[in-house]
Amino acid sequence: MRLLEWSKEEPWTITMELVKGEPLHEYLYRKGTLTENQARNIVIQLLDAGAYMHAFNVFHRDLKLENIMINDLDQKVTVIDYGYCCHQKITQLKQGTESYYAPELFT
Ligand SMILES: Nc1ncnc2c1ncn2[C@@H]1O[C@H](COP(=O)(O)OP(=O)(O)OP(=O)(O)O)[C@@H](O)[C@H]1O
Ligand SMILES: [Mg+2]
Repeated sequence: MRLLEWSKEEPWTITMELVKGEPLHEYLYRKGTLTENQARNIVIQLLDAGAYMHAFNVFHRDLKLENIMINDLDQKVTVIDYGYCCHQKITQLKQGTESYYAPELFT
């Protein structure tokens, strides 16, 4: 996923690459089931994306099927929607989508 341009003029705007494909929830609904290899390929790409972000101290904080795009042609997976991301590890704030919160955020 490439950041193409941004502006700090109000209102702040960022322009991201237009990703080819469809959101993962639509893809899974359309496919019905995946093979173990297909599922593994998706999970490995997501883990790679997470590790890459964390190496730069960036935390997405809203990872869910709706924020993951997949291209059916090459099975390439792209994480989108960085609206809740932050640049340091904040584990106490309730950010993102409630039904995907980590259990410790409810204690
Ligand atoms: N860079 C992109 N390339 C292709 N499609 C995109 C891209 N960004 C978003 N979309 C499409 O638009 C949908 C909504 O985008 P996004 O997840 O950024 O916003 P949102 O979830 O509606 O808003 P919010 O920021 O309030 O969560 C995605 O599910 C996807 O289908
Ligand atoms: Mg979204």
